[in-house]
Amino acid sequence: MTMTMIEIERALRALRLSGIRATLDTRIMEAQATQQPFLETFSAILQDELDRRYSRLTERRFKQSRLDERTTLNDFDWRFNPKLPRQACFELHTLKFITEGSNALIIGKPGTGKSHVAKAVAYQATLQGYNVRYAEADTEFAQFALAGPDEQSQALRAYTDPDLLVLDDMFLARRISDLSAELLQTIVHQRYKLRRSIIATSNRVVEDWGKYLGDNTMSTTILDRLMHRSAMLQFEGKSYRLKEAASRIARDTTNVS
Ligand SMILES: Nc1ncnc2c1ncn2[C@@H]1O[C@H](COP(=O)(O)OP(=O)(O)O)[C@@H](O)[C@H]1O
Ligand SMILES: [Mg+2]
Repeated sequence: MTMTMIEIERALRALRLSGIRATLDTRIMEAQATQQPFLETFSAILQDELDRRYSRLTERRFKQSRLDERTTLNDFDWRFNPKLPRQACFELHTLKFITEGSNALIIGKPGTGKSHVAKAVAYQATLQGYNVRYAEADTEFAQFALAGPDEQSQALRAYTDPDLLVLDDMFLARRISDLSAELLQTIVHQRYKLRRSIIATSNRVVEDWGKYLGDNTMSTTILDRLMHRSAMLQFEGKSYRLKEAASRIARDTTNVS
């Protein structure tokens, strides 16, 4: 017996086929207009459901990643700082390092695009089905110190569970607290054991990291594990932020005169 549209609507809802529900009217119209074979209509309908599920999933992964924007390498101007390790950036963007469980350290001057590249790789990972967690290291480590035990163990899981963790702007304030160093040690150890990748960015040269961690055995084990199986990307060049600010000022003064 043929269902009425209301019954179909109800069935689709019960089966949670919201992608089909959203486009069914159009597909019916299309089929009538084009007289296309049943299989063609049916595959279009299936595809609508798949598309909806994919975009829902990627949307959820994007939210969970805590990335603040959908950064890509499309709009990155490689001519601005010609010395950037372009090939290594695209290599990261292939996400092979995640399958291999290796890390990447992006080190260099402020404004050269370290966070941009790290976020673009992280966003690409969310699109490819990986769970990602992005963190501004200093800020979040400071918040962690103030949290209660339950919150802390929840936060720790959020740093250790995902396939990729981005620790952006490490050692922004140079010396980190003992508690932050301990947290970093736990994160790095756990992830190393589980072969889960970290991308860390920093304006500080790696030679000084030991100093910021407090010179002791803990800092050595953190750095050993972070740097073993790790790509090192040096970002040399001018600040794009300054360029943007300069062109803003130029624009404003032109507007005034
Ligand atoms: N080569 C570039 N092309 C386009 N935008 C860039 C480039 N380098 C940096 N930016 C932009 O400039 C700003 C600062 O870059 P960011 O990645 O935050 O620098 P860093 O993390 O190295 O301090 C961001 O808005 C970023 O998108
Ligand atoms: Mg940055």
